[in-house]
Amino acid sequence: MNLKEIKIKAKNEIVKARSLKELNEIYKKYLGKKREITRIFSSLKKLSEGERKKLGKEANLVKREVEEMIKEKSKQLQEKLRKQKIEKEKIDVTRPGKKLEVGHLHPLTHVQREVLEIFQSMGFSVVLGPELETEWYNFDALNIPKDHPARDMWDTFWLQPESQMSNVKSQKFLLRTHTSPVQIRYMEKHNPPLRIVVPGRCFRHEATDASHEIQFYQLEGLMVDENVSAANFRAVIEEFLRRFFKTPIEIRLRPSYFPFTEPSFEVDVRREKEKWIEMMGAGMVHPKVFEAAGLNPKEWQGFAFGVGLDRLAMLRYKINDIRLFYSGDLRFLNQF
Ligand code: DAH
Repeated sequence: MNLKEIKIKAKNEIVKARSLKELNEIYKKYLGKKREITRIFSSLKKLSEGERKKLGKEANLVKREVEEMIKEKSKQLQEKLRKQKIEKEKIDVTRPGKKLEVGHLHPLTHVQREVLEIFQSMGFSVVLGPELETEWYNFDALNIPKDHPARDMWDTFWLQPESQMSNVKSQKFLLRTHTSPVQIRYMEKHNPPLRIVVPGRCFRHEATDASHEIQFYQLEGLMVDENVSAANFRAVIEEFLRRFFKTPIEIRLRPSYFPFTEPSFEVDVRREKEKWIEMMGAGMVHPKVFEAAGLNPKEWQGFAFGVGLDRLAMLRYKINDIRLFYSGDLRFLNQF
């Protein structure tokens, strides 16, 4: 090949080159050692002085031209690569974002928080107790003796007795059937005056239906001082219900029976001309309960109440089946 041919061929190949790798091959082919142009230089020594000068000059020129073309093409290719990369990494800030799935609170949690806030604003402290209880705190200390028919009011999940395992005289354990045992636990450790509310999960061994679950939430209330009367109870509970339902309400106390209160009553609520709804059990703390907790019943008086948080949530959200709260059904839960 002569210089002219080399130049034309090289140019052709350079124009067609699609990658830096291909371009590098072309460089090696024409400008590398023992390659096209280089070969021409090495043939120079066989020529006469005049021809050598002439051809040498031309060869140098072609060499520079080819180098220049390769450099130019390399720039183009690099620029192309850069653009491709930018294109690939481009972020379209105008595209709609992905929706983040955020969880939310359970309706019972909403209601519990709201209820606690109302009582806290009236000076009640929030206290918790264990879900696994002893027979003593759940029953005996609350004046519910072993063979007394009142025990039947609370269908109980008993735990397997552990007496076989140890020679220590063991207590009987159970899943608490109500939050009332926390009254005892708290009064054992704290002297009156006291005002507490106790939210918590309770368990009953019973058949389930739209208004009964084997687990549910209660809120226990207890206020003890030297002079606490049923009138104080009425005022506190009316204020609570009014603030919770956010509408004018009426309440009435009906005589009832609980072993741990004397007298005992049932509280009914009515919203403007609607039906009376049974709301909670309550009463004046029984002297035997004070005694079981180590307080002198001649010194102290108090009221106590127990209200179903599920019940409050069902009324608030117009839910007709308590089992929905524990179903884990997202079609239900996502509505809150
Ligand atoms: N512990 C009762 C129950 O679960 C509810 C109750 C009634 C609680 C009267 C009280 C009370 O504190 O005074 O059925």
